[in-house]
Amino acid sequence: MAPIFVSYVITCPNYPDKPAKETVMLERLQKIISAAGITSRRASEDLILAGRVTVNGTVVTELGSKADPSVDTVCVDGKPLTIASKKLYILLYKPVGYLTTLDDPEGRPLVTDLLKEVGERVYPVGRLDYNTEGLLLLTSDGEWANQLMHPRHEVEKEYHVRVRGKVHKSQLDQMAGGVEIDGKKTAPARVSMIKEGEQNDWFSITIHEGRNRQVRRMCEAVSLSVVRLRRVRYGMLTMGSLKPGEFRYLTEAEVAGLRDPHQKHAAAAPRTPATTRSSASARTAQRPAAAQKPSHLAANGKHSTPTKRNRPPRKP
Ligand code: URA
Repeated sequence: MAPIFVSYVITCPNYPDKPAKETVMLERLQKIISAAGITSRRASEDLILAGRVTVNGTVVTELGSKADPSVDTVCVDGKPLTIASKKLYILLYKPVGYLTTLDDPEGRPLVTDLLKEVGERVYPVGRLDYNTEGLLLLTSDGEWANQLMHPRHEVEKEYHVRVRGKVHKSQLDQMAGGVEIDGKKTAPARVSMIKEGEQNDWFSITIHEGRNRQVRRMCEAVSLSVVRLRRVRYGMLTMGSLKPGEFRYLTEAEVAGLRDPHQKHAAAAPRTPATTRSSASARTAQRPAAAQKPSHLAANGKHSTPTKRNRPPRKP
């Protein structure tokens, strides 16, 4: 089913000509802007201060201004904010040491711990091992997730692998041609050398299957010992400037693009760093350059979340 794209229409009750209603859902403008995926909350404040934000046609430069998403129209640089749908689509840079499950009896960190500010339940699309880092999609749209995970869909996933010692061409060739895992040969993969080092070599492998611990087991099959594994691309989505523990919301184009099985690896535009955390209701972010609607705004839509170093202790 195609996503429903709706305009983000906002009420601004702190305007004298707009009497506040008891039923309005007041939210700070900077929260509303960041929630629409335009940019971080801090950068949204800059937009407001710069006079680039209007509410119902009136420029607002006061940072405390509030609005209600159900009535007034908020524009940035004259363009109304839009959201993709009521569903959430998130791209997280999963750090090492987080589980891709929703619960762990041992109380280990969960990827959802990094998404507390999202404020809604989202589910991982597939999984990354505890010791694997990199791009992980999460969504509240079960149908979309199932589509992506269906073997017929064949979304490309690219990994960078650091191995102990040297990688030989014959090992790469074997993996490219397919190796046997649990009695079944893996589908052809694209494999290439990235870097040779004193202690470790790096190579890239692109697969479209989603078998359990597939890359690690492919490496095992050719006697390679994985030291580090990072997923650097999921279909069209690349890491951009996401850092471990950070996430961003997908754009409308990205949500639709991933649904399209033919669009496997159009690279997304890199994003500039964000400095602040943002609100729970964001649905989409800046479009990649290739897919940008001309009407939309340039900004980053990245959200910082606590990493292992600075995150608060988990609740028991
Ligand atoms: N392959 C693996 O071995 N592990 C992952 O987490 C993802 C792909």
